[in-house]
Amino acid sequence: MPGTPPPKAHQKHRLESNPAFGSRKLKLGTFQTNLDSGCVMSDLDGRLEITWPNTVTLAQLADAMDFEALVPVARWRGFGGATDPQGPGFETYTWAAGIAGATRHSGVVSTSHVALSHPIIAAKQSTVIDHISNGRYTLNIVNGWNFPEMEMFGVSLLEHEERYAYAEEWLSIVKRLWTADDRFDHDGKFYRIKGGYLQPKPIQHPYPAIMNAGSSERGRHFACKYCDLVFTNIRSHDIATNTAHVAAYHRLAREEYGREVRVWSNATIIQAETEKEARDFYHYYVHEKGDWVAARYVIDTMGAEINQRDYPEARRNAMAEMMISGWGGFPLVGTKEQIVDGLMTLSKIGLDGVLLSWPRYIEGMREFSDVTYPLLKQTGLRD
Ligand SMILES: Cc1cc2nc3c(=O)[nH]c(=O)nc-3n(C[C@H](O)[C@H](O)[C@H](O)COP(=O)(O)O)c2cc1C
Repeated sequence: MPGTPPPKAHQKHRLESNPAFGSRKLKLGTFQTNLDSGCVMSDLDGRLEITWPNTVTLAQLADAMDFEALVPVARWRGFGGATDPQGPGFETYTWAAGIAGATRHSGVVSTSHVALSHPIIAAKQSTVIDHISNGRYTLNIVNGWNFPEMEMFGVSLLEHEERYAYAEEWLSIVKRLWTADDRFDHDGKFYRIKGGYLQPKPIQHPYPAIMNAGSSERGRHFACKYCDLVFTNIRSHDIATNTAHVAAYHRLAREEYGREVRVWSNATIIQAETEKEARDFYHYYVHEKGDWVAARYVIDTMGAEINQRDYPEARRNAMAEMMISGWGGFPLVGTKEQIVDGLMTLSKIGLDGVLLSWPRYIEGMREFSDVTYPLLKQTGLRD
């Protein structure tokens, strides 16, 4: 960043301290371990019950496998239906602070709704987590799409384009607080700041990693212009299509903004002794036990006019199924060998990292750690 002061005695270069920038070919993470039900929307026995011991158990399983990113979701109320998925849950900054203290290796993320968190508070809270974690922290910026939860705060979701203008100004203030030694004034469209000040600076120099998962064209530009980890959904089973999809992010970042980004996605692991058992289990928790009312509520909210997404009615049930099975994660279904193959393919299409989740989160992740991860290591993807 131009004009960034040199590192202070307590600072480290973020490429060295934050595992999300590490050199492993395929980086791994967990997704949504701070919320009840985890990533599924299903009345499945053994799904994540959100308690502090349970969320720490998952973080420590990830830490033992050197996962590079533990990504929570900022959610303020659930989605109704029979199970109210994601209703009970832990707020992400305080969650990340606790998780940073309970882990030693993994990258730790907090997720900020820009309209709900003043940039001075966000910069300060992030700095504390960066200190607790000794430079393992990443900030995920979200604009919000779930307007009923914003209305709970008395905040109206801005028009889609305006949300990104807001996020640009918000992030510029956060970065300035993290880097500027002199106090500064800011007179923008959305914020006025007098004598902006933040000390101590974060551990990471020049500032902590920034993540964004915008999926619209405007969101892709925002992520490629300002962020370090960009997230995208993988929807196709065609390798060439997926490879082109991931490459388009790198090209956009390089050609339009002269930058490098890391592209990540998310996947759900449905593993069993045989492929048939895995497929039967998928059918059981999605089609017999799935919370379709809650999932349709999600899709209809995402597809509301204010979010400017084109969700034809004919596709909405298929999209709801993706939400039920793993909050939109790419389903990896089969034996441990097939799961490893699936992860190899996700690496082959150019992804730098994948956030994982399991329907029965704790049981599934334990099994992954015991029998699947050792196989994955043999591929060299985790050297
Ligand atoms: C990995 C990942 C994490 C996300 N985390 C959150 C979150 O915590 N809270 C939230 O409201 N939206 C979250 N989102 C949604 C995105 O931030 C974004 O709003 C959505 O993809 C719509 O993109 P758009 O704003 O470009 O239309 C997440 C999406 C992904 C793929």
